[in-house]
Amino acid sequence: MVHHHIRSTMIEPQDCDDGDEHETLPLPTLPPMPRERVSLQKSSICSRSYFMVVMVFFHVYIINVIVLLLYVHYNNGPGDVLATPNRDEASRGSNHHKPPESHQQQSDSAFHRDMYLLRLEGIRVGHVQKVSLVPDKVHEMRTLSLKPLLFEIPGFLSEEECRVVVQLAQLKGLMESQVMVPEGQEELTEQLNLSPEEIFNLLDLNQDGQLQLQEILTHSRVRDGIWLTPEDLREIYAGLKADPDGNGLLSLEEFRSLGSDAFQRFLQQRGVKSSQLVRNSRHTWLYQGKGAHQVLRDLKKRVTRLTRLPSTLVDLSEPLQVVRYEQGGHYHAHHDSGPVYPETACTHTRLAANTSTPFETSCRYITVLFYLNSVEGGGETAFPVADNRTYEEVSLIQNDVDLMDTRKNCDKSNLRVKPTKGTAVFWYNYLSDGQGWVGEQDEYSLHGGCVVTRGTKWVANNWINIDPDYQRQARYQQLVSQQGEEDAEDEGEQSQTSPEQLHTADSHQEL
Ligand code: OGA
Ligand code: CA
Ligand code: FE2
Repeated sequence: MVHHHIRSTMIEPQDCDDGDEHETLPLPTLPPMPRERVSLQKSSICSRSYFMVVMVFFHVYIINVIVLLLYVHYNNGPGDVLATPNRDEASRGSNHHKPPESHQQQSDSAFHRDMYLLRLEGIRVGHVQKVSLVPDKVHEMRTLSLKPLLFEIPGFLSEEECRVVVQLAQLKGLMESQVMVPEGQEELTEQLNLSPEEIFNLLDLNQDGQLQLQEILTHSRVRDGIWLTPEDLREIYAGLKADPDGNGLLSLEEFRSLGSDAFQRFLQQRGVKSSQLVRNSRHTWLYQGKGAHQVLRDLKKRVTRLTRLPSTLVDLSEPLQVVRYEQGGHYHAHHDSGPVYPETACTHTRLAANTSTPFETSCRYITVLFYLNSVEGGGETAFPVADNRTYEEVSLIQNDVDLMDTRKNCDKSNLRVKPTKGTAVFWYNYLSDGQGWVGEQDEYSLHGGCVVTRGTKWVANNWINIDPDYQRQARYQQLVSQQGEEDAEDEGEQSQTSPEQLHTADSHQEL
């Protein structure tokens, strides 16, 4: 744009003689003309004084443009000029995102930091690259999507290793991934302190004065961990006689007469089957640090090599989560980790952060998912919006088709990965910030486990936790290493509290 303007301005004085309305006036060769004549002539706009004025404006314009360019350059900082290693398509979005002031200051002071996150390159969907993860084998890594940046590595685990991981999990015992919470949401609704009219207006996304099914579901697909489908909602309307005309729409009057906890009460009364939960599986956690089974430690080492991240980061991450789905099991689409705002804390660095905030997320930068068996029927991992042109939460439900519902609509997902024993898939749940650290959440990383139609499905998750706030991550690591030194000084035989255990105990009460 700016460029274009400069060019057109530069051409203008020359164009002056081409104009149909004025005569040719070869300026440099003409002798000075008397003032009166100049002002009277039709061609006076090509006079010397006119030329002077134009030139003055032209120079002022050029100076303005230069000042503007300098301003833009210095305001962007060196970060946008320097390419980070492996900066790729997946760092998209980082340029139009301006971090808030406090965040900016922090990243400025962190310029001479000693940790950078390498990000693998996807190149294009279907691209295969060879990776060296274990001594005598070369693995092939295939790019499955760029949004999110997602890879598949067949044979990441041997048959033997899959068997050991499953057996270790069985030995430890698995618990229900989701327990039904009978009540407790009422207080929240009371705290909200919104009138029914206000709630109605917030839910009425298209502001047509009616609540369509998807408007309700977009906001509260999950109530108390119960997954609502359009059919459930119709059943609730019928049961509560909420929609007398039966058109599937709620008017303000109909909504008002419902009462805030009507849905919950209805659902509780009806009883909940596990197939109606967000997640229908059992899981356990396996520690992978010092003293853990060799297979688990090897696995962690391999994950470090695969992701090419500093080993401290991998070491300080969550333990391995082993999940079992029985026939009929599923996990509706979700993000493994939430969006981060300046006031959002990460579970793993919470202790190191000296603020207490109401928002917390697990800050799982990467998910590495292992298939520990080949499933007889169903059980694919679905990515409903992978490589979609846009991500719009509202359009995830259309005409009673909920793309996040992995019991019903996996076939409509953009991408499905078939569970094959020993295969690993991994993806980034966050973009790059363009400067070698974690950026914004990648919404396209939405995924879920499709319903298992036949047999059992065993998977394991390795999450790599990194705080998008570099300073907080650094402080946390410092704290953990100090703790480690103190433990070593104690010299007690049982004092084997490793950083990983500390972390584990803090963030997983279920353990
Ligand atoms: C998970 C998950 C997908 C699957 O455990 O977080 O998304 O295919 N699993 O089981
Ligand atoms: Ca509406
Ligand atoms: Fe997940």
